[in-house]
Amino acid sequence: MRRIGPFLVLALLPLGGCQGWQSALDAHGPAAGALARMFWIFVAVLATVWVLTMIALVLALRRRRAPDADPLATDPGTERRMTVTISIAIALTLVTVVSLTGLSYAAQKVLFAHKDGGLSLLVKGQQWWWQVTYEDAQPNRVFTTANEIHIPVGEPVLIKLESSDVIHSFWVPSLTGKMDAITGRQNQIQIQADRPGVYRGQCAEYCGLQHAHMGLLVVAESKEDFERWREQQISSAIPPTDDERQRGMEIFMSKPCVMCHQIRGTDAGGKVAPDLTHVGSRRTIGAGTLETTRGNIAAWIVDPHGVKPGVNMPTIQLDPDEVQPLATYLEGLK
Ligand code: CUA
Repeated sequence: MRRIGPFLVLALLPLGGCQGWQSALDAHGPAAGALARMFWIFVAVLATVWVLTMIALVLALRRRRAPDADPLATDPGTERRMTVTISIAIALTLVTVVSLTGLSYAAQKVLFAHKDGGLSLLVKGQQWWWQVTYEDAQPNRVFTTANEIHIPVGEPVLIKLESSDVIHSFWVPSLTGKMDAITGRQNQIQIQADRPGVYRGQCAEYCGLQHAHMGLLVVAESKEDFERWREQQISSAIPPTDDERQRGMEIFMSKPCVMCHQIRGTDAGGKVAPDLTHVGSRRTIGAGTLETTRGNIAAWIVDPHGVKPGVNMPTIQLDPDEVQPLATYLEGLK
């Protein structure tokens, strides 16, 4: 009990409905629901099998032969009973294994069921962040963001997974099962949230030093809220209106930041690092590593390797009085 105690606590915590917590047992979508149901049925069946086995073991250990009995003597009655008991046990085992296999197959059908229509997103795993492109039939409505996916509640959303370096795995436990993001091919998985909320996701395939800091958030919201968010994300960055942010923007444009990052509506057009057009509207920076605050943005720019050792972002040479305006500018990119 002492050993499994912490795991029980971990398993039960999400039942409190804590938002942003990730747990496959806290299912909020059809695919995750099918997996959670399967998990609990497996637990119930295997627990029953274990208890029955232990009872049989204890009964067997308690059987005693008379001290003077011949150990090789056989009794036809006992032999027959044992044959029947073992045959029943084998039949039950077969039925159990076949049923669990069928159950697993049924859960897979739910997991890979594709409903037509709805949104489609291209999600590219990178060391160590997620590039998210919202596809649209109209090219001027396509936009790219990072590490935070917004979806309308109750609608299936197709996730097309690709990778630009090593193998990653897309996993939002409360919404669906895992799916690998592999270079040179596209895997697809559909997610759907039945209730509004913020669901944390995680790269689930070891992909290098900062694998653990490759998180993402899925924000499920009402159709109206989602459309409002989408319109805002499609738009270019709002130009700064105050002096400090104006200065921050000039600093950004004069530094190597523009080589990697894009801010739509400005000269910054880099495509290898997260799109920062609306970085201030996202809940976290560094793929779920830090909450988006001005202080955290400043800390990240000054020492990205202190926050996320091994990260591709270089340390930029900045004068001390340049940090504050730069962080203010980026935080204001709502
Ligand atoms: Cu990407 Cu682990």
